[in-house]
Amino acid sequence: MSKGSRLRARKKPEGLSEHGLINGWADAVGVQVRQAQAGDLSAIADLVPLAGVGLEDVLREAVTAEFAGAALRSGLRGGLRGGLRGGPDAFHRHLTEQFARSFDDPLQAYLHAALVLVAEHRDRGIVGTLIAYPPINVADDHLQVIPAGADRREAQRRVVMLGAIGLAKIKAVAVAESERRRGIGAALLKRCRQIYVHCGYLLLYGAMPPTPGLSAFYRRQGFDVMEAGAPMDMWMVFGVHSSILPGADERFFFRRFPPGSVHRGG
Ligand SMILES: CC(C)(COP(=O)(O)OP(=O)(O)OC[C@H]1O[C@@H](n2cnc3c(N)ncnc32)[C@H](O)[C@@H]1OP(=O)(O)O)[C@@H](O)C(=O)NCCC(=O)NCCS
Repeated sequence: MSKGSRLRARKKPEGLSEHGLINGWADAVGVQVRQAQAGDLSAIADLVPLAGVGLEDVLREAVTAEFAGAALRSGLRGGLRGGLRGGPDAFHRHLTEQFARSFDDPLQAYLHAALVLVAEHRDRGIVGTLIAYPPINVADDHLQVIPAGADRREAQRRVVMLGAIGLAKIKAVAVAESERRRGIGAALLKRCRQIYVHCGYLLLYGAMPPTPGLSAFYRRQGFDVMEAGAPMDMWMVFGVHSSILPGADERFFFRRFPPGSVHRGG
């Protein structure tokens, strides 16, 4: 790859920065999309049941203590010019440091890559939310298939790290009923996708219930939607063929970002 094409490939989508994540992007009419703060948690807890999930205590704690998404913020910091270099390098460095600190409790490092976004209306407050994170249970499942041997510990470290930097699950996207069909859900998904792609992720996915209109919503945002109950192969993340299954009645939606093809487009 020439220097020019590498620079093009790494160009950030407009406004994608740590400052934007903290202070908000005006991506939908009258609404700012930004990372969640402690004061947003009760509104988030009210919204996520719309997507059929709850707000986990570990995420609440990570948002309150302000380390949720800290590695993603490192990835969004700086640019190609100037002293600070962001992107996958900074993101990986941040996570590696976290793993070094707490390898026996990898969930802490995973939470540094968790993204909790809110959409805040200037008059009506928090009207939408999105929660995404690398799912530690998928890496855990892959640990079970590592054969016993001298380098087992090293192989385990590798799987746990690959799970943290390679795939992120969209756990919930929810918009208050009175605020729907104005592009807020699309704005939340767009920023989620841009942030994880900028940090070098290979796969963004989620599992959705058979709600009418949902497939169209995700397809419009560039996701592929699988058949109900169809398994998803995690080969591109872990380098071994393995599959995960959606819940009963659910189907996976996903977007893949092969290395070298990221950061283009909005
Ligand atoms: C899915 C959801 C987040 C979309 O939010 P939104 O702000 O309305 O999204 P947008 O305005 O960007 O896009 C609207 C599109 O979503 C689709 N859509 C999603 N859910 C729909 C529904 N229940 N009924 C009709 N259309 C729906 C339509 O294609 C619609 O496009 P249209 O208005 O041109 O017909 C919102 O409907 C919601 O909170 N649903 C409940 C929670 C949920 O099911 N989350 C997903 C779980 S995986």
